[in-house]
Amino acid sequence: MKKKKTVRFKESVGIDIGSHSVKVVHLKKLHEGFKLLNYEIRPTVAHGIEYLPSDLRPDRFAPVVVEIMKTLHINPKKVKHLVTSIGGDNTSIKQIKTIFLPDEELESALFFEAKKHIPISGTDMVLDYQVLSVEEKTNNMNILLAATTKEVLNDHTNILHTAGLSPNIVDIDSLAITNSFALNSFAEDGVFVLLNLGAHRTNLIIWGPNSKLFARDIPYGGYHFTRDIMRKRQMEWEQAEKYKFEWGLTDDPSSAQNKSISMLDISEKPTEDVIVEEIRRSLRFYVKEAGNSDFRKVYLMGGSAKLVGLVEYIQDKVNVPTEIYMPFINIEMPEKFHDKKDPQLSLAIGLAMRME
Ligand SMILES: Nc1ncnc2c1ncn2[C@@H]1O[C@H](COP(=O)(O)OP(=O)(O)OP(=O)(O)O)[C@@H](O)[C@H]1O
Ligand SMILES: [Mg+2]
Repeated sequence: MKKKKTVRFKESVGIDIGSHSVKVVHLKKLHEGFKLLNYEIRPTVAHGIEYLPSDLRPDRFAPVVVEIMKTLHINPKKVKHLVTSIGGDNTSIKQIKTIFLPDEELESALFFEAKKHIPISGTDMVLDYQVLSVEEKTNNMNILLAATTKEVLNDHTNILHTAGLSPNIVDIDSLAITNSFALNSFAEDGVFVLLNLGAHRTNLIIWGPNSKLFARDIPYGGYHFTRDIMRKRQMEWEQAEKYKFEWGLTDDPSSAQNKSISMLDISEKPTEDVIVEEIRRSLRFYVKEAGNSDFRKVYLMGGSAKLVGLVEYIQDKVNVPTEIYMPFINIEMPEKFHDKKDPQLSLAIGLAMRME
């Protein structure tokens, strides 16, 4: 979703405003590639206060963005290339195929086409598109559609304006994740599953350098893992949150409650099972839609990718090699950051690396 025309820039800032944490990545553009100048991850809820996904008041976010910019010594007025993104219920991306259309007809044709594919009402829709390729034999066009509503876009830009910022580009979460992966991996073949596990949702993307893009959001994340622990281990929120960070999906060997867990467990499906089921379902759909089942790897990113035991659990159930994604491959890293690679930054990095 472009807002302004492209500008030349020496430094770029990617801001990922998550419901739980704001992530900012500051990069310097080199002759080839980028160098990490600095980054910051800061929660939007004060320490010790319970995170509730229903509390998404926009005034919760701007002060956090302002604080981060101060800490990173970034002057909002001097930022030439600022990229942010939106996601969730009223955003959608879809790769479609159409007959060849000249530029002047494409936009209006795609608007009608988008209404068929994207579940957002026409009058309220903001649409952007990218021609990915034109097939030689058939002349058909492969097009990536990205859509949201005016309201979602306005709410988002309002947060940034309140923080004194004005984005050059507003991307869609799953596209920025794909971009982050495409620019930081050496994948030439095969299909990859990217899971950006946040606090109240997970972006699921299936993509290959030579294969179709599929993306959807699953309404589960770190919040639900904490809830599971509260329920299964009969803990209050604070204790459960602590348990989550230390033990994740595994059993604390010193806990006496381990034995009673399986009995309490049957009433509701644990979050990791729901996520695995959604991955499996999406893979089956992808095979049918894209005719490609060359799944090479599942990559976990986002804050909840760090949940102890999740990599092993997903690998075991989905039966595709799984690992945590470290989005720093094509970024020069000063020494002081070497041991600070964090999958929670994947989206913000994808945003900061976006060229236009
Ligand atoms: N080491 C860790 N182990 C387990 N969970 C973690 C860890 N670190 C962070 N988390 C969880 O990750 C989540 C925050 O991740 P992230 O910043 O990606 O979410 P977000 O972008 O704010 O959320 P959303 O995209 O859903 O709005 C929280 O639920 C937090 O408890
Ligand atoms: Mg997020």
